[in-house]
Amino acid sequence: MTAPADTSGAPDDLWWKSAVLYQVYPRSFADSDADGTGDLQGIIERLDYLQWLGIDGVWLSPITVSPNADWGYDVADYCTVQPDLGTMETFDRLVAGARARHIRVLLDIVPNHTSEQHPWFVDSRSSRASARRDWYVWADPKPDGAAPNNWVSSFGGPAWTLDPTTGQFYLHNHLSEQPDLNWWNEEVRDAFDAIFGFWFDRGVAGFRIDVCNIIIKDALLRDNPPATEDDDFEAQLFGQRPVYNGNRPEVHDVIRRWRKLADSCAPPRALIGETPVKVEELVKYYGDCTDELHLAFNFPFITAPFDAAAMRHIVEDTESLLPSGAWPAWTGSNHDMSRFATRWGGGDARKARAALVMLLSLRGTPVLYQGDEIGLEDVPVAHEDMRDPLGVAYWPAYAGRDAMRTPMPWRDGPGGGFTDPGARPWLPLGPTGQCNVEQQQSDPSSMLCLARDLIALRRGTPELQTGRYETMATPVGVWAWRRGDRMMVALNLSDDDAALVGTSGRIRIATDRGRDGELFDDGLSVPAWEGVIAEIR
Ligand code: GLC
Ligand code: MG
Repeated sequence: MTAPADTSGAPDDLWWKSAVLYQVYPRSFADSDADGTGDLQGIIERLDYLQWLGIDGVWLSPITVSPNADWGYDVADYCTVQPDLGTMETFDRLVAGARARHIRVLLDIVPNHTSEQHPWFVDSRSSRASARRDWYVWADPKPDGAAPNNWVSSFGGPAWTLDPTTGQFYLHNHLSEQPDLNWWNEEVRDAFDAIFGFWFDRGVAGFRIDVCNIIIKDALLRDNPPATEDDDFEAQLFGQRPVYNGNRPEVHDVIRRWRKLADSCAPPRALIGETPVKVEELVKYYGDCTDELHLAFNFPFITAPFDAAAMRHIVEDTESLLPSGAWPAWTGSNHDMSRFATRWGGGDARKARAALVMLLSLRGTPVLYQGDEIGLEDVPVAHEDMRDPLGVAYWPAYAGRDAMRTPMPWRDGPGGGFTDPGARPWLPLGPTGQCNVEQQQSDPSSMLCLARDLIALRRGTPELQTGRYETMATPVGVWAWRRGDRMMVALNLSDDDAALVGTSGRIRIATDRGRDGELFDDGLSVPAWEGVIAEIR
């Protein structure tokens, strides 16, 4: 199967550069069969909406068979659709329906680990002599019976679990139900080549690669060094720097192998990495810009405070460190991180709107998370309703990730248009009256219409798609940049009104929609927490 034709005029192998991508978290998007769980048929029924919004590609959090210890991120079969989400036939219809609307479908692939219930692991743990023993990372206890080294799981606690059947420990960088594969093993590499190929043949336009930075571990299993005061929050929390249990240079060999596979397809497929690393490391995942990832999620940007200087620095660093020709990806929310309307916006709609302007007008591919377009905020989930294993384990110190995974509010009322009014959604909906798609679709001043108009403006303005980024001089608290020669973007991320002197032109879209089309001469006023995209002369 081939990928859909592009409406933007971009060549087929570069579609992801001019695209606006959208993450669907399938369990929470739309439930077609009233069992309270979103499903593939539900996505099919909302494709018209995604087309209306102007989305070019969706990436779906895992849809394959999983016992759901970590909600799909513990895969027990990489080539079969999870039954409560649908069947392969539904999936094929989803890809075809998306293609008819010029929307590409990308899947999430989880190569770092499987479910403990995956037949590979069942075999691997059965005996030291099993054919797949070496597919996972097994090691002997220390002489005193302790774990092989000091590695901690990124979900907390030791990264090793003793398996009594064979008396060895296995490695898991996440839950103990998620044993890490051994990517030094050639057969593991071959097995994933086949999985990539299986989905490419079904018309998948690419993959989002889960925890792409940690799949190769130190071959000698050396202890991680202790964290220092200069280390980031996570390293300090865990007391160690993740130097050996991931982030190894050899990971780039594996990514280059995947890129070759993706490039060998007609048309080529796109690879987007989950790469929670510093900007200096992030840029390495692009290789020479032709041989590794097409796009790498920028976590320093996601986790930065919504402050003009802080955000500008990360964008400037990314722009200057990326290999020439490489393409950034900008995202504000996902199923693991607090939603940007909450994290950056703090519940202030002006801030969320300014953030949307930022995401959709930087140089790079914007990736929205379902609900971002309506300014959906985190929905606090009561302890008894929690589904995320992290919330369940660490509450009340940490409430986990359910707040950013609650169902899409499509309209007001019981079920919120997500599920039947009588059904119990797998996670509770927030107050559907305050923020929902239906209301915002009919209100031209809404966040949703802002999102749609920004996407349309971007599509119709080559400078906003491919024009270079150049920071403009601004007063403190304001961040402004040029895109190409003709467009500019100004964000006032402060409580004080400001003005940019010496610029003239016409506002195309402002967060205060009353200003769309406004002409300005020798100065542009940017009131507190407003964002403006303008054509300049
Ligand atoms: C990634 C996923 C996250 C999951 C983890 C383990 O970070 O985004 O949801 O829990 O990997 O697979
Ligand atoms: Mg359902």
